[in-house]
Amino acid sequence: MKDSHNRVIDYIRISITDRCNLRCRYCMPEDIPSISHDEIMRFESILRICRLAGSLGIRKFKVTGGEPLVRKGCLPFLKELKALPDTEQVTLTTNGVLLKDCLPTLKEIGIDGVNVSLDTLNPDTFFRITRRPDFSQVIDSILSCQAAGIRTKVNTVLLQGVNDGEFFDLVHLARDYPLDVRFIEIMPIGCGRQYRGYNKDSLLPLLVSKYPDYEYSNETRGNGPAVYITIPGFQGYIGFIDAIHGKFCHQCNRVRLTSDGLLKPCLYYNSGTNLKELIRNQADDEQLLSAIKNAIYHKPTEHQFFHTALEGPEELRKMSQIGG
Ligand code: GTP
Ligand code: 5AD
Ligand code: SF4
Repeated sequence: MKDSHNRVIDYIRISITDRCNLRCRYCMPEDIPSISHDEIMRFESILRICRLAGSLGIRKFKVTGGEPLVRKGCLPFLKELKALPDTEQVTLTTNGVLLKDCLPTLKEIGIDGVNVSLDTLNPDTFFRITRRPDFSQVIDSILSCQAAGIRTKVNTVLLQGVNDGEFFDLVHLARDYPLDVRFIEIMPIGCGRQYRGYNKDSLLPLLVSKYPDYEYSNETRGNGPAVYITIPGFQGYIGFIDAIHGKFCHQCNRVRLTSDGLLKPCLYYNSGTNLKELIRNQADDEQLLSAIKNAIYHKPTEHQFFHTALEGPEELRKMSQIGG
């Protein structure tokens, strides 16, 4: 369906848990209370919402966390999501720690793509960023994922003074393997406020100095806001997600569902519609559908990372509680 700004909304990001087996410093603190078992949305309720959202034209489902694979039942849930009548695509964004063992099932389900977060190729830096020692599992998962023929993207948040010396090493993953590498501009949400990062305008000149024959790609390589370039001899593409400086709100296609049942029309704002409460209060499908429709229609115009929030209160949750 279209929102009040005439944007086609056909994509939802579903965070199925706020828990994570890593503790990336820019994303979450070491100690953070998790949403209790009672407050977390049941898969059954999420599927009900997705089926209704599907009837409104939401056809692309991105499953995120925290780390989605730490939630028991994630794979059967993905299978059911894939089987809903209006589903066109189901993709997963994961930190990769538990991914490798899930690959045969994901392949069988027909997952449409997996994005794996990886900020470094150095195990010590990995530990410094994530506070956990699982580098080898992640890299192994990434290589196994692309080898299994699943469309694989690596998400990297390049941070000043942390992993920026590895820019070309990370770029070269797309030369050496058929996978896309995307550089995400850090957003000042939660722990991200303490870091300084890079955007396309700062990274592209570096890339061009080494690879002057690059070209922008018009190909659709996902449903997200990334801008892609191709480089001769590379098997995958290089992408940039400039969440702040390359503001893409005018072409935003998405809403979000948090693991405690808030339908969040925009990443930036704290507001949303509490669908869990409606379900608990025995709302029927018609009432639920009307709440979803209303939330989508009134999606805010744009984020206000540069200014004071104009359309509502700014988000106070951590990224792990939103799902990115
Ligand atoms: P695909 O390419 O289709 O897989 O989608 P994607 O790039 O949106 O997925 P992914 O989950 O890998 O997200 C990559 C980054 O984009 C994360 O850092 C997200 O926080 C960021 N992102 C995704 N959607 C939005 C959005 O609507 N607004 C902003 N500001 N950032 C977003
Ligand atoms: N800004 C930008 N990206 C972030 N991610 C987590 N926190 C932030 C932030 N503050 C990224 C993760 C993951 C994706 C889902 O979101 O690195 O790749
Ligand atoms: Fe869409 Fe909000 Fe992200 Fe802008 S900040 S692209 S409106 S979700």
